[in-house]
Amino acid sequence: MRRELQQSVVCLLVLAAAGPVAADVAAGKTKARACAVCHGPMGISNAPDAPSLAGQPERYLVEQLKAYRSGKRHHEVMSVIAKPLSDDDVRDLSAWYASLVIEVKSP
Ligand code: HEC
Repeated sequence: MRRELQQSVVCLLVLAAAGPVAADVAAGKTKARACAVCHGPMGISNAPDAPSLAGQPERYLVEQLKAYRSGKRHHEVMSVIAKPLSDDDVRDLSAWYASLVIEVKSP
């Protein structure tokens, strides 16, 4: 019994060490083609009502996309767009936008 317990603890530790599947920035870039019409090909927005996504924190982007998907955050366009996204899509898209480096200059 004790031995079994030890084995399952070891097993859990191994799983925890493997961690979540890493996001795929290149896949995110490809998937983001569908977003470019509003958010811009490099994440700098083209549309007056769409925010720029380049350089935003990855965790923030993941949370917003999941919030649109679940209905916690609502927007007539983004709620529809986020609905079919898988967890992988959300992770890859967020990693891509977060990887873009933006430069800020004082006026
Ligand atoms: C037709 C235009 C359009 C397209 C296409 C579009 N978006 Fe958006 N997106 C918007 C608008 C408008 C908002 C602002 C919504 C709001 O006020 O909540 C937004 C907001 C967001 C936000 C929240 C940003 C923030 O600062 O909180 C994220 C993240 C996002 N979009 C990701 C995506 C991704 C990823 C795609 C492609 C899969 C995509 N969008 C496609 C128009 C668009």
